[in-house]
Amino acid sequence: MTSLIGLKNLEALEIEQILTRAQEFINEPLSSIDILKNRFVVNLFFENSTRTRFSFEVAEKRLGAHVLNFQESSSSTQKGETIYDTIKTIESMGVEAAVIRHSQNGLLEDLQGRLQVKLINAGIGNEEHPTQALLDMLTMKQEFGKIAGLKVAIIGDLKHSRVASSNFYGLKKLGAEVILSGPDAYKPYDPELREGSTWLPIEDAIGEADVVMMLRIQHERHQDRGLDISQNEYHNLYGLTEKRAKFMKKGAIIMHPAPFNRDVEIASCLIESPKSRIFKQVSNGVAVRMAVLEKALIPSKKEMLI
Ligand code: CP
Repeated sequence: MTSLIGLKNLEALEIEQILTRAQEFINEPLSSIDILKNRFVVNLFFENSTRTRFSFEVAEKRLGAHVLNFQESSSSTQKGETIYDTIKTIESMGVEAAVIRHSQNGLLEDLQGRLQVKLINAGIGNEEHPTQALLDMLTMKQEFGKIAGLKVAIIGDLKHSRVASSNFYGLKKLGAEVILSGPDAYKPYDPELREGSTWLPIEDAIGEADVVMMLRIQHERHQDRGLDISQNEYHNLYGLTEKRAKFMKKGAIIMHPAPFNRDVEIASCLIESPKSRIFKQVSNGVAVRMAVLEKALIPSKKEMLI
C-alpha cells in the first residue's frame, strides 16, 4: 500500500501499472464498484481547484468510499493548528487516505513517515502534480498506443509549473522525448528538466511534436512581476495561435492541463477543435485517480504475502 508523492521517485513499471489499471476502469466500469466500501478518504485542498478536487471526489465515490471534504476557512487551522496536527487528528478518526493540494514545496516528504494515513499529492507548490501527468500520459497512450518514442513539447510557464515537472519525470521514464519552449523568463528552475530536454523556439517545438502541451501562466506562484507584456502580446509571441497550429504534424494532438486562459496561451477556437484532447484529459482524470486510490488503499497480492 503506497502514498503517491511524485513521479520522480516512482519506477517506470509502477507508472505503467497505474495507466493499465486506469484503462481497465474505463473499459470495465463495473469492476470498480464498492472496492473502497466503508473506507474513509479526506480531500484537503489549501489552493483553488476545480478538476482535481472534483475528479478525486468522483473517483472516491465511484469506488464506494466515504468522502470528507476539508474546508480550510472553517477549520481549526484558523486557530493555529498545523497541517501535521490537522491530518493526525483526521487520521485518528479512522480516515485512511488524504488527498492534498498545498503551495508548500516539500510538505508531503515532511509528513511522510510521521503519519499512517496514505498521502496523495493533488498538486504541491511548483514541485509535482503526479495525477495530472498520469492522466496526461494515459491520454497519450490511448492516442498513440505507447509513450516510448513520442515527442512531447511542453510550452509556456515552465518555471512555475508542477505539471511540467511531473510530466517530464513520467515521460522520460517511459521513453518519450521532452521538448520545452516558451519565454526565456519562464525556463525551468530544475537543472534535471533543463538538461534532460531539448529547448526549441516555439514554431520548431510545435512542428516537431506528436503532443503539443500548452501551459497557463501561473501568476499565483510568481515571486516577481515576470514578463512585462500584455496578454495579447503573449499570445502572439508564445501562444498556440491558429496559424501556429497549422504547422503541427499530421496526427499530432493538443493538450492542456487546464484551467486555460482563452486567447492567451491557446487560441479559443483550438480548445474544442478536432486536434484537441483537453476534455478527454479531464475524463481520464477520474479513472487515473481511481487507480491511484486503489494502489494506496488495497494491498497487492505481493504485499499480502509479505
Ligand atoms: N489541472 C488542474 O490541476 O486543474 P485544477 O486546478 O482545476 O484542479
